[in-house]
Amino acid sequence: MSLPALVVHGGAGDIPSQEHPEYIVGCRAAFEAGWTLLEQGASALDAVEAAVRSMEDNPIFDAGVGSVLNSVGEIELDAIIMDGATLGLGAVAAVRGIANPVTLARRIMENTSHSVLVGSGARRYAEQIGLRLCSQAELTVPREVTRYREHQQAAEAQKDGRAQAIFDTVGAVAVDRAGNVAAATSTGGIAFKLPGRVGDSPLVGSGAYADNWSGAASATGYGELIMRVVLSKAATDFLAAGLTAQAAAERAIQVLHERVGGEGGIIVVDRNGGVGFAHNTPHMAVARRTADGQIEVRIRIP
Ligand code: GLY
Repeated sequence: MSLPALVVHGGAGDIPSQEHPEYIVGCRAAFEAGWTLLEQGASALDAVEAAVRSMEDNPIFDAGVGSVLNSVGEIELDAIIMDGATLGLGAVAAVRGIANPVTLARRIMENTSHSVLVGSGARRYAEQIGLRLCSQAELTVPREVTRYREHQQAAEAQKDGRAQAIFDTVGAVAVDRAGNVAAATSTGGIAFKLPGRVGDSPLVGSGAYADNWSGAASATGYGELIMRVVLSKAATDFLAAGLTAQAAAERAIQVLHERVGGEGGIIVVDRNGGVGFAHNTPHMAVARRTADGQIEVRIRIP
């Protein structure tokens, strides 16, 4: 274990095999974006924001551009960032028409007296501070239009409009040279969700948590169940109780599975630079640095 440390995830779920190469390239690029900053002495907050922005800008992931469509064919985004030094956080929920919700979340944390902004108020604040706004069309990719039509047909056939569990949320956790930890998570949520639905990602303790006394965690998976066990806070509580980062990640996923039957994944960093990750879905895309300094990206973790 050594400082700094960074782990990045591109979501847990059943990632189609033809998309694995793009996930690997995208997670590697996100890791490099964060790691370059950490090596230059930047803060953990800067690193997790940069890593998550990289994935928001990459249309392969369900975050920012390329996000899933809701039941009326629109994109609503959730994101959170948390500073383990102060326990300060910023989050946005169900916001439309911005490219980088993680940056909006950080600006809310640092420049306002609030923690969470939602919907049109979040977008209005983004516009006010000059963040890049975009149309629904600019965020939408053909893959998700096809998926939306499939969901529409299935809903009509079954008279069932339930959202589909696509778990491609992205996230990053880091500890910098000064020993400060941070976490960030961003998502388009689950496909065919009802307009206004908010998942676990922007909920503090569920989608992410960071505390210099223990470490940081970022979760991915089916939000309605993740929020019941406050998954990321559970993982950092396991760190505080003395578990390693790997054991804390595994234990958190065990709780998710055994207590509420949830599916998902989590990445964890402890305050000393130990890292861990676990999932109970078929795949999870994770990037980290190995002991010999190589960037390792995995889609399936044994
Ligand atoms: N974990 C992402 C969501 O459920 O919205």
